[in-house]
Amino acid sequence: MKKRVFSGARPTARQHIGNLLGAIDNYVNLQKDYDCVYCIVDIHALTTLQDTAQIQNYIRELALDWLAAGLDPHKSIIFVQSHVPEVTELHTYLSMVTPLSWLLRVPTFKEKAKAQPDNVNYGLVGYPVLMASDIVLYKAEVVPVGEDQLPHLELTREIARRFNGLFGETFPEPKAKLTSFPNIPSLISSGKMSKSEAGSTIDIAHTAEETTARIMNAITDPARKFRKDPGHPEVCNIYTLHKYFTPAEKVEKIGVECRKAEIGCVDCKKLLSANMNEFLRPLREKRSELAARPEFIKEVLADGADRARVIARETIREVKQKMGLL
Ligand code: AMP
Ligand code: TRP
Repeated sequence: MKKRVFSGARPTARQHIGNLLGAIDNYVNLQKDYDCVYCIVDIHALTTLQDTAQIQNYIRELALDWLAAGLDPHKSIIFVQSHVPEVTELHTYLSMVTPLSWLLRVPTFKEKAKAQPDNVNYGLVGYPVLMASDIVLYKAEVVPVGEDQLPHLELTREIARRFNGLFGETFPEPKAKLTSFPNIPSLISSGKMSKSEAGSTIDIAHTAEETTARIMNAITDPARKFRKDPGHPEVCNIYTLHKYFTPAEKVEKIGVECRKAEIGCVDCKKLLSANMNEFLRPLREKRSELAARPEFIKEVLADGADRARVIARETIREVKQKMGLL
């Protein structure tokens, strides 16, 4: 039997190239050898975004991004979290075996509590328990994610271990799978590319013109103020992106020329935006084609939920039996 893969993303924005290079690339590649389940986690989205009309819109956008990037509904289960409500039942059981102290020290909880001090809701504290429930409900062993999710995965393993210790071996302890680009930098700051920092991203759905404009506006090596100053490619976000979008020999050449101030940032950015737009062109074309077929997206998600529910029900039955609740 094939091992299972599970991953998810919150429908609070469209997907950007940080998501693509950091996570979606692996979602697509793993479809060959694994039984894959990919979830649009709308319940998680509610911890920070309570505007459900927006969430509904982003569910559709995210499905388009994923399908455009190569997720195949014939191979993978693609579904919306709340359509398979068994996850909330498992979340309740797992919350009883998860010490509050584990949750209060999770870095994303601390960051979000700071970012939204007027809305530190109960669900925000339980976010990693719900994420653990997503993963173990499908007994996934491999979880493709970006680097920022590693603390959540560690906690998932601890929760699974604790449940297994208390009630008997039930869940595998899942492992994170990173790409070679697990932390794509922001275009405009020293942080990571993130939907919560306006202007920091290039989205799959952007036009070629928007992409070029954002790259031309991006920060580079802060020490390189003038064209004649030698650059430090290792600290330049644009250089990091070249490593993905530009052929290796050319990347090496740019590195050498940048250090000697033989190439300026403007030319370097023009080359990147040309290569990036060329790479994203087929994805963008496919995305526009799919956007014209809203019924198809609905069918994919409904079929995904039907297939996910079969697995979820079976796990819940086993969990209740192990816990002595049946
Ligand atoms: P999100 O859209 O924030 O729910 O994230 C979806 C996936 O993309 C998660 O696996 C994240 O770890 C990954 N991700 C988000 N931002 C980045 C980034 N800047 N670099 C690499 N991976 C990322
Ligand atoms: N926390 C993840 C993020 O913010 C989204 C997520 C929810 C997830 N459940 C998951 C990722 C299960 C992997 C597996 O990106």
